[in-house]
Amino acid sequence: MSKKATLQIDGKSYDFPLITGTENETAIDIKTLRGATGGVTTIDPGYKNTGSCESAITFLNGEEGILRYRGYAIEDLADKADFLEVAYLLIFGELPSKEQLDKFHSDIKAQSHVDEDVKKILDGFPKSAHPMGVLSSLTSALVAFNPSSVNVDSEEDMYNAIVRLMAKFPVLTAWAYRKRVGLPLDYGDDNLGYVDNFVKMMFKKPSGEYTPNKVIVDALDKLLILHADHEQNCSTSTVRMVGSSHAGLFVSISAGIAALWGPLHGGANQAVIEMLEAIKEDGGDTHKFMQKAKDKQDPFRLMGFGHRVYKNFDPRAKIIKKSADDVLDALGVEDPVLDIAKGLEKEALEDNYFVDRKLYPNVDFYSGIIYRAMGIPVEMFTPMFALGRLPGWIAQWREMRLRKEPIGRPRQVYIGENHREFKSLDKR
Ligand code: CMC
Repeated sequence: MSKKATLQIDGKSYDFPLITGTENETAIDIKTLRGATGGVTTIDPGYKNTGSCESAITFLNGEEGILRYRGYAIEDLADKADFLEVAYLLIFGELPSKEQLDKFHSDIKAQSHVDEDVKKILDGFPKSAHPMGVLSSLTSALVAFNPSSVNVDSEEDMYNAIVRLMAKFPVLTAWAYRKRVGLPLDYGDDNLGYVDNFVKMMFKKPSGEYTPNKVIVDALDKLLILHADHEQNCSTSTVRMVGSSHAGLFVSISAGIAALWGPLHGGANQAVIEMLEAIKEDGGDTHKFMQKAKDKQDPFRLMGFGHRVYKNFDPRAKIIKKSADDVLDALGVEDPVLDIAKGLEKEALEDNYFVDRKLYPNVDFYSGIIYRAMGIPVEMFTPMFALGRLPGWIAQWREMRLRKEPIGRPRQVYIGENHREFKSLDKR
């Protein structure tokens, strides 16, 4: 007999089927709830208990600290694959063969030009504009330069749109940076690898040759892999939600970038470094900031700590912490904030407040330290996250459209005024 959940409302029983995923996660399927009960709905702010979709892309077990893309452990992918292979895996479901990977890369290279008129839009931004805002706007603006809508039933159409975005997004990210620091825009080099080319577009000085630094390229490649997908997080859910109205791929991703910007999500990597700097400026007393984080009257939170799903450890943070040590060593960089970060982590892991609430360092706690060692300025940390997350967003958008999911439209419980008689202006 298939499993079911029974709900009792006012003495009446209603049965709902249970569905089980491939990793034995169980969910109550409440699709028929409102119809069967005559309008009863559920409420779950922040969707802490609500699955929004079935997905075959990423598996995450927060209790055991497991993260897998399409079944492959994040540890293996970070160690053995490169970012473009992982992007292909996430989007198309399988690791590419050598031919498939070469074709994917050369198709991307063929689309890496960004219309010269996009530069005029970029010129309109003040230099002080945050690069996340610039990136979101330019990604949305791409629609105007690539207006044909994607026929999601055509594999070719879908592939072309994906390749176009994978090609142009790193250019826009690098341009957002160069605008901010006053460097002339760079057009990349088709002879370089995907990540290598991005590093060149970011850092090449107008007067000098670009010499790739393998330590930087490899470390960035790994960081991008670790950020590439994370199932139904805030920005990914945004991408799926916007796309569910059949809005196009580029504009859905633009909305995802806006969602990622917030300090509780991708913006945390910038907030972590700002926090560590503030602690350093204040004399380095980590204990004082721990007390602030625990004080419910104080809005301060320990940035880079805690996660909605990970309640044991964040497997990405483990890899990044090790990578931070290696990269700083290899680049010969000594950063005092790394010591502050390690001190804070040690203190938090022994503190009842953090232990009881299962708050552990997340992916953003150490990533900023690596970005900084690479010479990437703090406002660019979240755009780096966006570049990494791009294949995940694309994969999730594609899955949502191919599964023909309905438009996202949650219910609410209304708590406002009951019906009132209209009062004319002279009576108010
Ligand atoms: N510092 C101090 N207290 C915290 C923190 C923190 N960083 N995170 C959670 N808490 C407390 C919170 O006050 C609450 O306490 P109480 O039960 O006494 O009210 C309890 O822990 C549960 O927190 P919550 O806010 O209900 O948990 P959530 O699942 O809604 O939020 C979170 C998860 C990631 C937004 C939150 O932990 C947070 O704000 N962390 C800091 C920001 C951060 O590092 N974000 C990056 C997340 S990982 C990358 C990404 O997803 O983009």
